[in-house]
Amino acid sequence: MKISIVGCGYVGLVTGMGFAKLGHEVTFVDLDDRKIEAINSGKPPIFEKGIEELMEKNAGKYKATKNYESIKETDITFICVGTPSKEDGSIDLTFVRSAASETGRVLKEKDEFHVVVVKSTVIPGTTEEVVKPIIEKESGKEAFRDFGLALNPEFLREGKAVEDFFNPDRIVIGVKDERTREVLEELYSPFKCPKLITDIKTAEMIKYASNAFLATKISFANEIGNICKKLGIDVYEVFKGVGLDHRINPAFFRAGIGFGGSCLPKDVRALIAKAEELGEEPKILKAVIEVNERQPLRMIELLKRHISSLEGKTIGILGLAFKPDTDDVRESRAIPIVKKLLKEGAKVIAYDPKAMNNFSKIFPQIEYAGTGQEVIDRSDAVLIVTEWEEFEELNYRGKIVIDGRRIKKAREALVYEGVCW
Ligand code: UGA
Repeated sequence: MKISIVGCGYVGLVTGMGFAKLGHEVTFVDLDDRKIEAINSGKPPIFEKGIEELMEKNAGKYKATKNYESIKETDITFICVGTPSKEDGSIDLTFVRSAASETGRVLKEKDEFHVVVVKSTVIPGTTEEVVKPIIEKESGKEAFRDFGLALNPEFLREGKAVEDFFNPDRIVIGVKDERTREVLEELYSPFKCPKLITDIKTAEMIKYASNAFLATKISFANEIGNICKKLGIDVYEVFKGVGLDHRINPAFFRAGIGFGGSCLPKDVRALIAKAEELGEEPKILKAVIEVNERQPLRMIELLKRHISSLEGKTIGILGLAFKPDTDDVRESRAIPIVKKLLKEGAKVIAYDPKAMNNFSKIFPQIEYAGTGQEVIDRSDAVLIVTEWEEFEELNYRGKIVIDGRRIKKAREALVYEGVCW
């Protein structure tokens, strides 16, 4: 098939390159010149494991352009633009709206049936109440008759997105018309995982409920972890035992300093905002966010047990990305930690293998080191914020280390404190 992808963030890029590998012809559309040039020269515009190889091996099967007109030559358009948070937690649909109206304008000039698939994470109701009327207005056509419209959520983890694309646990397709359903069933036919066909709003909700539950597991593990810390129990042993129950499952119980990134915090907040708009009080979801906001600051409380005043002290930070294998610092737990340290008068020296450039845009005033070892050697105490594999190779002897992510090697430190263990 001929597929167009609107929005070349990690979801759009990985989805498009994945389809290219499966033998489809892919056109990427984005407004960012830098991304277009990078893709057309076979270089990934973002850091994502495995994507460069995928781009190399499938050269010739994809191209990128700023011109929406090229959608016309394709059979399916995936809208993969971002849905950032607004002040009140609800999602900002600016990019979704403009992608829908540009797509609608192109469809006006096209006679054949065309399928539009929303992959962006949007609150239940958005595809039919926002995207559909925009495309209909701009194209002068009727949805589900003249063009198809569907919602197909992504379940790609940053850093593992390529692996997740090819090995999904499930594929969810929210559709209304038979023709669109057939097109998407054919597109996804090479995948052998369970496929769930639902109506459009149910598919939208599956995405939110999934991310909200993952976030809940993490905050729950952290709350139990905080209790375990006081009782001198290792929470990782506890969840090993808990996860063996097949009804529970062991994944996503890694206690520590909580969840960051561009998805879990944003999606839970958006669901809270929607629930409140509907007159519901989402108590569990609110507690999930509350626990998550407190968790990183517990590192500083632990640190102060060993260094009571941080004024003038040099505190090292190992890891700035919201998780390993990415350069993304959105909602990274390092942000509230560094903010608090600076407020307390500490000098901060930090290192991350990939995310220093992005972090320095938020905190230009702190020092960035060339290696993790330099951070350890030059600081009075070290906080481990992201579990990069290379942190298992460092020498922590003689230091005070507060570990938010469970780096085994750090236990050799003079003083070692795990945040929940
Ligand atoms: C998340 C979901 O895992 C994906 O399924 C989903 O597709 C994606 O959001 C999305 O909506 O686009 P992602 O944000 O890339 O993926 O990262 P995760 O691997 O979920 O990690 C999120 C945060 O939770 C990280 O800060 C990580 O350190 C933290 N985490 C994760 C824990 O603290 N403990 C855990 O047990 C697992």
